[in-house]
Amino acid sequence: MLNAVDLFCGSGGVTQGLRAGGWRVVVACDNDPVASSTYRINHKATNFVEGDIQSGDTVDAIVQSVDGNKIHLVVICAPCQPFSSQNRYRGNDKREQLIIRALAVVARVKPALVFFENVPGLASPAYRNIVTEVHLELKELGYFVSEPIVRDAADFGVPQRRRRCIMLAAKSPAALAAFADADVSCDPKTVYSAIADLPKLQSGQVSEEDHLHRARKHQPIAIERLRHIPHNGGSRSSLPAHLELSCHKGKATSFSDVYGRMAWQRVAPTLTTGCTDLTRGRFAHPEQDRAITMREAARLQTFPDRYQFMGQPGQISRQIGNAVPPAMIQAFVPAFEAALSVGPI
Ligand SMILES: C[S@@+](CC[C@H](N)C(=O)[O-])C[C@H]1O[C@@H](n2cnc3c(N)ncnc32)[C@H](O)[C@@H]1O
Repeated sequence: MLNAVDLFCGSGGVTQGLRAGGWRVVVACDNDPVASSTYRINHKATNFVEGDIQSGDTVDAIVQSVDGNKIHLVVICAPCQPFSSQNRYRGNDKREQLIIRALAVVARVKPALVFFENVPGLASPAYRNIVTEVHLELKELGYFVSEPIVRDAADFGVPQRRRRCIMLAAKSPAALAAFADADVSCDPKTVYSAIADLPKLQSGQVSEEDHLHRARKHQPIAIERLRHIPHNGGSRSSLPAHLELSCHKGKATSFSDVYGRMAWQRVAPTLTTGCTDLTRGRFAHPEQDRAITMREAARLQTFPDRYQFMGQPGQISRQIGNAVPPAMIQAFVPAFEAALSVGPI
């Protein structure tokens, strides 16, 4: 069996995808207590280290938990916020360094491959210094590293537009080429295919069978607004003047997705930590007068219904929005295996 280590594992999207592809995740690490409890309950066979990756003790605990197993892949999905265009501290956010600090694990575990996933911002010239530092450190450890490229999860069987920067390190240029050339194509999925079968809910209603299928309770004015937004992809530009949000009056283009509905036959927009909040993006149901539920968000991120999420609703939406879609990682499994088949491992 092929073995992985999942750093910044959050609620476990990467691990779920690798396991679905037949891999074993030997160790995972995160420092968020709620995401950690979600991870632990879903991945009981994985050794879990809850701690700050910047601490020597955390790195020691990870190495100890690897317990001498050959590790084929270390996945590094460091927090995206420092590289996001919406970050107020852009360029001056200490969390930029986390991706580099995580290489301390690579130096000790010596995996065959290292895979990075982050927001497209990491591939932009603004963060070239970080990418260069990652390249230099990995080169010293004997790796060849690809240039960061941007891919969309929608091309990997995820019913969501989610553009992400990916980068691979391997022990030979041939392994990098095998990864790049592997066929990872998947059938496209839509919002309809992901959530249309779920029971209808009104604002404030909860499904009796599924506590994650819980519609937020909206204010009457919010429901009134939604009634004016055309089904299947409509936007707040259809609101009559008396229902326009005061902060949006006369600004048709700014925050144009707020109160927008998803469209059945398209992919969803990128889910964020506010993915069940009408005021945080195009997160209204295609035809019901409410925001999407946590279950619908989890489906749009390709988590199976049996996946358990711990915490309060706001914490669950946050974990779902932060996750790497399992289907995207599963789609990359043949590419990891193609790189390993070339070696050296
Ligand atoms: C983008 S999310 C990871 C998503 C996850 N890989 C998945 O597949 O669902 C980034 C994670 O990094 C964790 N994190 C942030 N700072 C950290 C630190 N210093 N040490 C360990 N984990 C950290 C956060 O708690 C968060 O869960």
